Amino acid sequence: MARRDPHSYADDAQLQTESFALEARIDFQTQVITGRVTLTFAAPGSGTLDLDTRDLSIASIVDAHGAALAFTVHPPEPYIGARLEVTLPATTPSITIAYQTSPDASALQWLAPAQTDGGIHPYLFSQCQAIHARSLVPVQDSPGLRQRYTAELTIPSSLRAVMAAADRGRTEVGEHAVHRFEMPQPIPPYLFAFAVGDLASRDLSPRVRVWAEPGVVERAAWEFADTEAMITAAEALFGPYDWERFDILTMPPSFPYGGMENPRLTFITPTVIAGDRSLVSVIAHELAHSWTGNLVTNANAEHFWLNEGFTMYAERRITEALEGEEMAALSAALGRRELEESIERFKDTPAMTKLRTHLEGIDPDECYSLIPYEKGYLFLTAIEAAVGRPAFVGWLRTYLDAFRFGAITTEDFIAHIERGLPGALAKVDAPAWLDGEGLPPNAITAKSSRLAAIEALGSAPPPVDNTWSATEWALYLENLPRPLPEATLEALDAQCHLTESRNYDVLVPWLTLALKSGYLAVLPRVERVVAEVGRMKYLRPLYTALAAEPATRDRGNALFDQLRAGYHPIARQMVEGVQARYRPAP
Ligand code: BES
Ligand code: ZN
Repeated sequence: MARRDPHSYADDAQLQTESFALEARIDFQTQVITGRVTLTFAAPGSGTLDLDTRDLSIASIVDAHGAALAFTVHPPEPYIGARLEVTLPATTPSITIAYQTSPDASALQWLAPAQTDGGIHPYLFSQCQAIHARSLVPVQDSPGLRQRYTAELTIPSSLRAVMAAADRGRTEVGEHAVHRFEMPQPIPPYLFAFAVGDLASRDLSPRVRVWAEPGVVERAAWEFADTEAMITAAEALFGPYDWERFDILTMPPSFPYGGMENPRLTFITPTVIAGDRSLVSVIAHELAHSWTGNLVTNANAEHFWLNEGFTMYAERRITEALEGEEMAALSAALGRRELEESIERFKDTPAMTKLRTHLEGIDPDECYSLIPYEKGYLFLTAIEAAVGRPAFVGWLRTYLDAFRFGAITTEDFIAHIERGLPGALAKVDAPAWLDGEGLPPNAITAKSSRLAAIEALGSAPPPVDNTWSATEWALYLENLPRPLPEATLEALDAQCHLTESRNYDVLVPWLTLALKSGYLAVLPRVERVVAEVGRMKYLRPLYTALAAEPATRDRGNALFDQLRAGYHPIARQMVEGVQARYRPAP
């Protein structure tokens, strides 16, 4: 037996799924998906096959001749789910599983019409990373096992389905529509994704289309207008874009992440629509994953830094190409601050601040943080500084080439860079980065005159009529000492109208600073933000600030009780964790 992923029952010694064909009927009334999936193996075989499931009810499993196969659903493990063990007769090429999902499927959020922009139709979307695909389909749910797929989704004909796959057409059948999709490139299961709702689209270029609810689509198309330029810049840096289309689905506000790099159809939070294109680095980030993550994939969550650290590097190279060195440096500076905060947050579990982690017994959603992103980024920039940019980028191209459509560990990365850039790892003391806690002393500090200007301000008010970007505002606010006196906060708000800001990357740092300073005049605005937005980047600091202060703790708890039903399951779990940390011992 060889299980290579602490979060999956997939076993190397068993058959491997080469592709799956899914037929799924989506029922908004019962919030259940009734599915039939055929798993086809890389080569026919026999014996035991272990699949991942979570809250699935398995009706039957048959072989390629339709003969019933014996199976056992083992008792579920927390967050990992239940092992589905099937016994395969000799030379089995494929099996077909009939099953149903649970209304609590952790990969899904079912939205009532009132939770959508239009207010008339329901909406459904999936989010499979890190280990939620198993709550949708019984699969070998490990990123090391790439699979192609086809899918046929049966949905109400008043709605439209979109999928992170090629569209193969739609047929209307009475009150239903059957929408067909195909993903011809093999993908890790965490990139399986779809959404169903009242969706409209605008084409931005021959390979870029923006999807959103009809009331949002114009604003989304305007905000994301630079996407084709981003792809062109990324191709110049990292090689041809391999996924044909780069469509964007603008999510409902409850989407818990900033973005999710589902191939061919990136999912993006609507909070990026600030009206001035100031937050589109999230698009650059998800686009960058088309190389780092989707082509070269972490073999399991213990090597998550390979996905996100490389992607932060690639994201900032795209930003640099399109907006200049200063903007990339400002982004890195803000990332550095967020890294330091995250290291502080994990001070009781410092093993989580290593790049190479050990996650046996640990839920990947529980340990999610910016550490693999920003420490990974700083590690790569340290190597880049040691060998020079041309050599580093030359090596990066060979790395992408060597591992395309593969899944790798930190050890594979080490072996590859030792060959391509001998001595580079020793120069930067790689063990301190990979297996050491906290931030090594040789981290590069980004140089930026605009950052220096902000730091020089200290707690002085911002220059009148400044032209600060959202990143500069966030840096200024993060730099202010806290708690700040009420009079200072009042004056700042009177000058800059921060409470009125509609740019969440400015608004949320401001509200967090205000809460931490006990300036409770902002409470109504805080309540509005946590009621209208489910992105964890914003919920976490606000609920943390509410919970940390005795004056607002009860208010925060009551607020969450009232709003929790509308949050995504992952966001709900995160806020529960925050509040539990501050709950007084009984
Ligand atoms: N792949 C991640 C989102 C993710 C990570 C979902 C782990 C589930 C588990 C995505 O690419 C991401 O990093 N999103 C960031 C964007 C930001 C760094 C620009 C986010 O959501 O904040
Ligand atoms: Zn990412």
